[in-house]
Amino acid sequence: MPYQTIEVTKLTPFIGAEIAGVDLSRPLGNQQFQEVHDALMENLVIFFRDQHLTHDQHKDFGRRFGNLVAHPASRHSPEGHPEILTIHADENSKHVAGEEWHSDVSCDETPPMGSILYLTEIPETGGDTLFASMYAAYDRLSEPMKQFLEALTATHDGEPVYRGRFGYQPGEKGFPKAEHPVIRTHPVTGRKALFVNGNFTTRINGLTRLESDALLQMLCRHAETPEFQCRFRWQPNSVAFWDNRSVQHHAMWDYFPQRRHGYRVTIEGDRPF
Ligand code: SIN
Repeated sequence: MPYQTIEVTKLTPFIGAEIAGVDLSRPLGNQQFQEVHDALMENLVIFFRDQHLTHDQHKDFGRRFGNLVAHPASRHSPEGHPEILTIHADENSKHVAGEEWHSDVSCDETPPMGSILYLTEIPETGGDTLFASMYAAYDRLSEPMKQFLEALTATHDGEPVYRGRFGYQPGEKGFPKAEHPVIRTHPVTGRKALFVNGNFTTRINGLTRLESDALLQMLCRHAETPEFQCRFRWQPNSVAFWDNRSVQHHAMWDYFPQRRHGYRVTIEGDRPF
C-alpha cells in the first residue's frame, strides 16, 4: 500500500510496523489520519517513537478512531482523566497489567476496538510488549478445525482476572462476562481471526468441561506460535497502537524491581460477530 504522509517499516511479515513522519501531539489531517488507520489495518499494531503527549493530546489522538472507554481498572487514572489508564510497575508491584496473553477486556459485550499505550519511563533492559496476529492464528488452523470452530461461542469472564486486583470493584451485576464467537470477522478488513485468550476465556460453550479445557488449551497454545508474533522494544516516549480485534498481546514483566510507567487510552469497539 503506498503511503504519502508517513513512512511504514514492517517489523515482521505477519504483524507490526514502525511509523515515522507523524507528530501525534498535533491534530492529524484527513489524509494522514487515513494512512495511519490503513497502516493499523495492514499491520495490526503500529509503533511511534519520540512522541510527547499531554493527557489531552493522547485522548484527542485516540478520539480520531472512536469514543474512548474507561477501563474496568480505571481507579488507576490520572486525576480528571477517567479515560486514561495508568500503567505502572516498580519495586512494590505484585503484578502488572497484561502479563498474560490477552485481548483487552474481551469479557465485555463490546470489547475495545483498540488501545493506545504511551510509555514515558522504561527499565534499562526488558519490559518489551509482545503482540500476536489472530488472523495468522486462524489462517494456520486446518480446514476441518476451522469448520468445527465456526459454529462455536466461548465465555469470557472478567472475574478470574479482576477479583482482588487492580483495585477493581464489581458493579451491581458482578464481574463483566460475555459470550463471543470463537472465530470473529473483522468489521473493517473482513478477515477472520481466532478470538479466545488464556486470560479471559473460561469455556467453549456447548462442549463438556474436558472437551472445552482441551480445546482451549490447544487454541491458546496455537495462538502463541512465535511466527505469528512481533516484539516491541520500548524507548521513553514510544507509543504502541494495537487493533484489539485482530491481536493478542503480552506485557513482559522481566524487569522487577525497575520502574516502567505510562498511560493507555482504550477505544470503544463493537459486538464481535
Ligand atoms: C496492557 O495494556 O495490556 C499492558 C501492555 C504493556 O504494559 O506493555
